[in-house]
Formats: sequence, C-alpha cells, structure tokens
Amino acid sequence: MWLILGSLLVILLAASVSAQNATVGPRVLCYYDGSAALREGLGKVIVSDIELALPFCTHLIYGFAGLNPENSKIRALDATLDLDSGKGQYRQVTSLKQRYPGLKVLLSVGGYKDLSEDKPYEKYLALLESGGSRTAFVNSAYSLLKTYSFDGLDLAWQFPQSKPKRIRGWTGKLWHGFKKLFTGDSVLDPKADEHREEFSALVRDLKNAFKHDNFQLGLTVLPHVNESIFMDVLLLKDNLEYVHLATFDQQTPERNPKEGDFTAPIYEPTERVVGNNVDAKVTYWLNNGAPSNKLVVGIPSYGRGWKLTEESGITGVPPLPADGPAAPGPQSGIPGLYSWAEVCAKLPNPGNANLKGADFPLRKIGDPTRRFGVYAYRVPDENEEHGLWISYEDPDTAGNKAAYVKAKGLGGISIFDLGYDDFKGSCAGDKFPILRAAKYRL
Ligand SMILES: *[C@@H]1O[C@H](CO)[C@@H](O)[C@H](O)[C@H]1NC(C)=O
Ligand SMILES: *[C@@H]1O[C@H](CO)[C@@H](O)[C@H](O)[C@H]1NC(C)=O
Repeated sequence: MWLILGSLLVILLAASVSAQNATVGPRVLCYYDGSAALREGLGKVIVSDIELALPFCTHLIYGFAGLNPENSKIRALDATLDLDSGKGQYRQVTSLKQRYPGLKVLLSVGGYKDLSEDKPYEKYLALLESGGSRTAFVNSAYSLLKTYSFDGLDLAWQFPQSKPKRIRGWTGKLWHGFKKLFTGDSVLDPKADEHREEFSALVRDLKNAFKHDNFQLGLTVLPHVNESIFMDVLLLKDNLEYVHLATFDQQTPERNPKEGDFTAPIYEPTERVVGNNVDAKVTYWLNNGAPSNKLVVGIPSYGRGWKLTEESGITGVPPLPADGPAAPGPQSGIPGLYSWAEVCAKLPNPGNANLKGADFPLRKIGDPTRRFGVYAYRVPDENEEHGLWISYEDPDTAGNKAAYVKAKGLGGISIFDLGYDDFKGSCAGDKFPILRAAKYRL
C-alpha cells in the first residue's frame, strides 16, 4: 500500500516538474520584419496581420535595428516607422504582450538589413575593435530596449560572408551579382582572431548590462557567416539564451545565379558544398560545445526561384544550370524570392489548370526521403520564356525540420519570417500554415 502510494507520489512529482518545464518547452522564434508594413499592395504586412500567429510563438523578434557608425550606437533603421516620434511600431509590437502574456518580444539588430554602406559589415567589425565603442553600443541597446519595453536583444550581427562556391564547373556568362556582402578576398578578414575575441567580450558585456532587468540575449548566426572564423562557442554559450542558426539561403539566385539548387536542405545532397545544410551547422555547434537545448533551427517561409533556360534541360533535377533570379512575385517584389502563398499559387490548382505562359502551373517534386526539401519547376516554352525553378519550404517540409529538432533534443525553431508565411490563408484557408505545421511537430 505505502509502496504504491509512494510510487504514485513520485510519479505525481515527476509529472509536475515536467509539466513546469513543458510550459518552458522548445522555443518558437517568430521573426517579423517590420519594414513589410511599408510595402504596397499584397506584400504589406502590418502588426495586426501577425497577431493570429502569436499563440504559436514563444518569442516575437522584431527586425531590424542597425548601427550608427558615427557614435557606435544602435539605431532604428527607419525612425519614422519604428520610434514614438514616428508611427511607433516598436511600441505596437511590445504592446502585444498585454494580450499574449507569455510572449517575449525581442529586437533584432543587423540581419543583413543594415546595408546603407558600401561594405556594410565593416562597421560591425570596427565597432568590436574598441572597448569604448562596445560600451556605447551596450548602453544604447539597453536604453532602447528599456524605453520601448522589449524583453531582450537578438544579435544578428553582420560579418563578411563566405564566398559562394560553384558546385559544378558549367561554362556560362560570368555573373555580376550582388557582391556587396561578401569579400572577394581569399582571406575573409585578416583580423578575424581579434574580432572573434572582441565579439565574445561584447556578448559578455551585453549579458552583464541586461542581468538586472532579465533581458534576454540571443545570437543569430546569419547565412554564410563562418562560425569557425568569427565565433568562440565556449566563450559565448553561457551568455546566450539561444543560438539561432539561420540554416537557409544556402543557395540563392543572388549568390549562385548560374546554379539552381536546394536552398535549405536538412542534410547534404550528394556532391554539394560541404556544410551548406541544417545538420552540418547543428553538428558543428554541438561538436564545439554548444548545449543542445540552446540551438534553434531557422525555417524559412519563402522559396528561392531561378530562371531556367534551354541549357537547364528538362528533368528539373538540381543542381541545374540557370540564368539568375526569376521574376519577382507580386507579394515579395524581390527577384527570385517567393512567399509561401506565392509559391502555393504557382502549384497546380483548379484555378490555374488551363492557364498558359507565366501562369502555367509548376510541376511539384516531393521529397519522400524528407532530407532535402521540395522543388517545383516549369521548363521554358519554345520562345525560351517562362522557365522557372523554385526550391521552397511548405508545411510538410517545415514539419520535417521541427521533427528533426525534436529528435535531436534541440532548443527550438524559428520562422523566418511571419510576413512570408501565408498570413492571409490564401493557399488552403489556414493562416500561418508553415508556422502551425512546424509547431505541431515540435
Ligand atoms: C526544469 O527547468 C529548470 C529551469 O530551467 C531546470 O533547472 C531543471 O533542471 C529542469 N528540470 C527538468 C526535470 O528538466
Ligand atoms: C570556414 O572556415 C574554416 C577555417 O576556419 C574553413 O576550413 C571552412 O572551409 C570554412 N567554411 C566555409 C563554408 O567557407
């Protein structure tokens, strides 16, 4: 009898402990790029548009703030949109906490959105180099968070990106793309060792400054930032609430205009650039001492599209020769980038079955292995027009990534970003289907 009661008690205690921690649970970082509020037409995403997503998010991460190189302080990239002196969007997002009390609202700085200068990462490196500049940044970040009632800071620190590598040596025109973000030098940063040490110091100082207010400090490792060059995992790990690995945009039409390929595979397809996949990034951080429960895997809510030509062949199998970014979608307005709703509209559906040309539906190729992701394509017509190849995330593949995170016991997922998920429910009626599907399998 006592034995049974005793074991019952143990079970009850264990249940209450795990219930407590279940409420902590894996993180779901929901990014919202606030500049979407300024887009025209279909691409416009205002704060009230993202509200229905929030019950599924542990964190709302508002992007993006930048750096003022004159005084090393954090600054709103668009003061008229974000600050109280303007439209007050910072205040609008932090006010959401009144209706969603468990939600943490963080401000993200960097994120490849702070692109005003010629080599935008240079000021991020320069700031690290002086103790005075770091202090100016820390103090300004602290007071910005405090003023607007944010719960913390997401450091999507900009570093020079690794150079794109070609998978195959196809002949073709040399590309003259978007080279602003990565250096052409074989040495990415001659002072990398110093910068790595100083970045750890910045993170430590931020952590100390935030302690009293319990502000959270997270790190986003942006695509093509080589962590083995710029980040000291052991010095960083204890000072960070999470490490968000932006494991997407591995292959993009800007970086790799001549070569279409999976943009965010979980595992490496054969004969690809080593490291450009989710599992390689996660493994790197785990092997270098990062706690698994702090690692957050980024899931994009958009696809990347390349123009196909005659040279691309008719099989659609990647990697395949391509001719740069495909035409922008009506929502994103960005060449080669399609929100999930835009991709969905291009897949076969009753409304486009009889359309021709640029509206002819794509052929979807699934991924029964659940390792690489899905793609859809349309070969060019007889006039060499309307060829299109898109690598994208859908609710199923997003769910597969969440299942990977769960199986590995990692710290959660991010959705990057809410504005490119189907926030209107135009695809299948459900709003935020990527976020929901991922959350469901986490
Ligand atoms: C629950 O979470 C707390 C605080 O994060 C931690 O100290 C504790 O070890 C966790 N307990 C279990 C059973 O995981
Ligand atoms: C990252 O840097 C290391 C050297 O520190 C190098 O071996 C590796 O190839 C680099 N990775 C990429 C993707 O450039």
